[in-house]
Amino acid sequence: MKLNEHLRNHRTGFILLFILICLWGTALEAQVPSGGKKISDELLGLFFEDINYAADGGIYAEMVQNRSFEYDPTEQQGWNPFSFWEYMEPGYSYGRISVETSDPVHGNNPHYMVVDAEFIGNYEEHEGKSGVGIKNLGFDGMVVNAGDTYNFSVFLKQLSNAPVTLDISLQGTDGTVLAENKIQSTSKDWKKYTTTLVPSQSRDTTHLVILATTKGKFAMDVVSLFPEKTFKNRPNGLRADMAQLLADMEPKFVRFPGGCLVHGDGLHNMYRWKNTIGPIEQRVEQRNIWGYHQTAGLGYFEYFQFCEDIGAKPLPVVPAGVSCQNSGGTWRIGGKGQRALPMDEMDEYIQEVLDLIEWANGPATSEWGSKRAAAGHPEPFNLEYVGIGNEDKMTPEFEERFTMLYQAVKQKHPEITVIGTVGPFLEGEDFEKGWEISNKLQLPMVDEHYYIEPDWYLGNQERYDTYDRKKAQVYLGEYASWGNKLYNAIAEAVHLTAIERNGDVVKMASYAPLLAKKGHTQWSTDMVFFDNTTLCPTPNFYVQKLFMKNSGDHYYDNVINFSKKDTTLAASTVMDSKTGDVIIKMVNAGKVPKSMEVNLSKFKNRVSNAKLTVLTGDPEAENTFDNPDNIVPVTEEYGVDKKFMYSAPAMSLSVIRIKTKT
Ligand code: AHR
Repeated sequence: MKLNEHLRNHRTGFILLFILICLWGTALEAQVPSGGKKISDELLGLFFEDINYAADGGIYAEMVQNRSFEYDPTEQQGWNPFSFWEYMEPGYSYGRISVETSDPVHGNNPHYMVVDAEFIGNYEEHEGKSGVGIKNLGFDGMVVNAGDTYNFSVFLKQLSNAPVTLDISLQGTDGTVLAENKIQSTSKDWKKYTTTLVPSQSRDTTHLVILATTKGKFAMDVVSLFPEKTFKNRPNGLRADMAQLLADMEPKFVRFPGGCLVHGDGLHNMYRWKNTIGPIEQRVEQRNIWGYHQTAGLGYFEYFQFCEDIGAKPLPVVPAGVSCQNSGGTWRIGGKGQRALPMDEMDEYIQEVLDLIEWANGPATSEWGSKRAAAGHPEPFNLEYVGIGNEDKMTPEFEERFTMLYQAVKQKHPEITVIGTVGPFLEGEDFEKGWEISNKLQLPMVDEHYYIEPDWYLGNQERYDTYDRKKAQVYLGEYASWGNKLYNAIAEAVHLTAIERNGDVVKMASYAPLLAKKGHTQWSTDMVFFDNTTLCPTPNFYVQKLFMKNSGDHYYDNVINFSKKDTTLAASTVMDSKTGDVIIKMVNAGKVPKSMEVNLSKFKNRVSNAKLTVLTGDPEAENTFDNPDNIVPVTEEYGVDKKFMYSAPAMSLSVIRIKTKT
């Protein structure tokens, strides 16, 4: 076949394919019955904040705690650059250690450890290793699995003339050596060395031991140990089981990095995204507003990569040029601690926010896009949303800086949806003022937050029914009822049905906070509790997951009939136009079963074999580390007719998924 003939055929094929795709699209649209309304197809996502050790010691898979010797007494009383390390000189060896700052690996990472191994014992009487060095205790120890590979790395600078040999091992708390390997220094300049450790046994509480086994002096920094099996095997990656748990929820977006972590505890504690990209040894570590240490190892790149890996949209939130109103703990005197960036620093700060958009979406040849490409992602991340501010106090200083930031982003990037903020509560001064600013600036979307008792959700199901559809859309960025009992989760399910019904004005919603480590929890009610080995998803998690996995893009009224006066009952019906599935959700927050009448007559081509998933139990029941599966949803086959009665169990969420397309 001649080339032009080939091209002609090719073009004809392409046009035919295009027509087919259009017809297919029309067929899909036609399948959505009339009478429904279009709702957000990205309604539910995740709120991620490094609170409760969610990042360092949590989903960020780094096993070494205080890897860069940057811990500090401003983070916790008694913390210092040697916290979570112990000095060792087994085998009657001796030496000295010191933390120094004169010639660091990078200026952003000023402290490092100097070890002077003066004498290495060599006595027949001593069993086991001899040497001088340090041991890291990890985040409550380090969990290792027999046969798995763990990647060790360290920056070393040889300070003595002779090279130093380091013995790297994983040891049980009883001193059993589970894995070991050796490194020898080869440079008097800082240089990164790597090796792997493969434990012979599985243990939940091991330590990392670094021993000089030859005489000599050296400096070391950024001591790191990662399981090779991170989520999607990403280097500098995430804990696989936890990331998978979140991926399986199928969230439509992930908000990051908070929460109050965004605006920080004072001006120098704001979350500045540029501090969190690039090689880990160059990132700026800092005090976490929640009273511990933040390595920024899980930084902007890792966050965007995670979003891409799980098919969720990134929703970064940047400070609005002001710090948290509770800075310095001033919540005790009414939140008077807000500090504002000086006006002569605002141009630079505005540029920083614009640079974030270029970093995410700009070509690999652009200044900031090239940094994304250098990190291994030449393609843009397709950022669509940027939140500015986190439940800030609505002061004139806030308004001035927010307005400058909003206008700069709008002008340079009209394609980006900016999300404003309307204070920490569901009503009150900051809420009113926040909406006033939003109306004045005609913001596309604002971020509402409320943590409130479960009964409120039952009694206020109509909150969004009367929202003015011509004003900003709502991102309900943080909400929860105060508790992780089944009753709390069911109250949140009631609210989610109202959010689906108002999915034309509520564009997005995310429960908060997401993760909480056992023994390190600052916020008492969270979605998933965890320790180093176990994940303990709450009943609230299962409600979120059921709504996320059963979302739709069209909402239908009058499919489920029940007494609207009974505030313990709620329901919603959505259709997912892509799959053609109709999904009905029925919630009974009462103490006895109640009937609901379902009328599916507007949905043609229904398949009568549906799937019913029910989450139910004792209202006081919780999931615990001893019994993490106490409250879990159960799925079964369920036959549906055009019209049927459904008996909603006491204290339950029921989801029925019905196919209308085979
Ligand atoms: O989700 C916990 C905290 O609650 C967030 O950091 C803050 O935004 C809110 O007050």
